[in-house]
Amino acid sequence: TYVVTENCIKCKYMDCVEVCPVDCFYVGENMLVIHPDECIDCGVCEPECPAEAIVPDSDDKATAWVELNRTYATQWPNITRKGEAPADADEWKDKPGKKELFSP
Ligand code: SF4
Ligand code: F3S
Repeated sequence: TYVVTENCIKCKYMDCVEVCPVDCFYVGENMLVIHPDECIDCGVCEPECPAEAIVPDSDDKATAWVELNRTYATQWPNITRKGEAPADADEWKDKPGKKELFSP
């Protein structure tokens, strides 16, 4: 499965949801997650994310996020259409230490 990681927080560009063939993205207040049982591992979302937030679960960067994706994918609503990204999304892009800003 692929996993949404820290870089998505407060960027939330949502380009990813438009390309997913199985609509397995779920939306929280300031980031998205992927449902690991629904993701078919196609990889098409990975290059679409301007924040490079999406990685395969085998990636080192995924480790801290695998469980979080699983947990919130069953609690948050599904999202299939790109909405408007936060006005300050570009300012948060590539900022380190966003994990503590995660908002369930
Ligand atoms: Fe959807 Fe494919 Fe990305 Fe999985 S890897 S979330 S199936 S686009
Ligand atoms: Fe997040 Fe990237 Fe999608 S910033 S909402 S994973 S396009």
